[in-house]
Amino acid sequence: MEQKQQQIQTILTDTISAGSLKKLILSKPQDKSVLKTTGRLLTIGGETVLQLESFMRDGKALHRNIKAAEAAAEIAAMLPDCYRQLNILTTGGDCEVLSSAKGKITVINRIKSIGEAVAPRSHDRKKHHILDEASRYDFLIELGVEDANGRVIDRKRSKFRQINRFLELLDDIYHELPSEGELCVCDLCCGKSYLTFAVYYYLTSIKARKIRMYGVDLKTDVIEYCVAAAKRLGFDDLHFICGDITLFEPDIPCNLVISLHACDIATDIVLAKAIGMQAKVILSTPCCHHEMMHQIDCPPLAFIEKHSILKQKLCDAATDALRALRLESEGYKVSALELIDPEETPKNVMLRAVRDLGQSGAEKSKALDEYNAACALFGVTPKLAELLKE
Ligand SMILES: C[S@@+](CC[C@H](N)C(=O)[O-])C[C@H]1O[C@@H](n2cnc3c(N)ncnc32)[C@H](O)[C@@H]1O
Repeated sequence: MEQKQQQIQTILTDTISAGSLKKLILSKPQDKSVLKTTGRLLTIGGETVLQLESFMRDGKALHRNIKAAEAAAEIAAMLPDCYRQLNILTTGGDCEVLSSAKGKITVINRIKSIGEAVAPRSHDRKKHHILDEASRYDFLIELGVEDANGRVIDRKRSKFRQINRFLELLDDIYHELPSEGELCVCDLCCGKSYLTFAVYYYLTSIKARKIRMYGVDLKTDVIEYCVAAAKRLGFDDLHFICGDITLFEPDIPCNLVISLHACDIATDIVLAKAIGMQAKVILSTPCCHHEMMHQIDCPPLAFIEKHSILKQKLCDAATDALRALRLESEGYKVSALELIDPEETPKNVMLRAVRDLGQSGAEKSKALDEYNAACALFGVTPKLAELLKE
């Protein structure tokens, strides 16, 4: 075996046996029907395996498990004949392997230490999934997430996981919603409305509740599609409205507001609207944080701001933390949660807010003082602050 391949095999053997391998990515495949292959450690029946997932050009994803003890040699042998690039991501640093068109292999090893073990994901663990992958759901077929036989379409797997996780997070706080009577639910900036249909299904079919649900979005074509899909599914109490959420008013008091990936300040408009409607529960996953990137003026943080990638992360976190604090000052208890595996998408923070009627005026004004002080520190005037002042 070539010296470089031996080096790759040693790196893989060490990180697999230490459990510090987070993910590997094989890219630039020689077989053009493959886009890339990723690998991660998994426990199945008590045994650790490396699960490879190959993403195919036709949209399919193929899975193969390799015993942990055999994985390092098998992956190392794939370069350069099957793939021309390998990235090994570990908790102790990353390693990049590149091979030239002539087959010369270069190893850029930035693994500083063997790293801490990440718990391998378990296939055996009983997960609290609301939607069962083996079942057929008409609404998922309608939305193109499952095929006509009820099998999740490979390229929609991540959407399926996202929907399921969203429902799990809703299920966790379901008890906070009124236990009797009709529930009013609004999906603000609903887009193609995967979640709207999923939440409708969850509340009506799983929880057997009478609900009145609204999906609101500016885009005429998606709303037309959603109206037709709701009709085909017989989701009679699901109404779609084409318009600006600022102007939207439900016919009855709203209990639950959901919103996924409302871009930039659209999330602030959603939150202001939800607060104005006194929604008992708000589930909001923000997206594209541009506002603070333009406003931030905080000399003590200049050492972070000078690195644009870190400035973005700082602004993302600070924007959502400020939103959480402003919600607290309106009497909500707020948790910031991870929606799905952060490796799948960076747009992954969910703000879950539950209106706490027992919260005192003093607690709310303390949160507001903290919020104003934090805005002053960052030198920002967030859209949410402006909207709630109006
Ligand atoms: C990134 S998409 C997300 C759509 C959907 N929630 C999803 O996750 O698939 C954001 C949506 O917000 C809508 N939007 C932005 N501002 C809006 C506003 N003020 N009123 C209504 N819809 C708005 C856009 O039309 C777009 O469909």
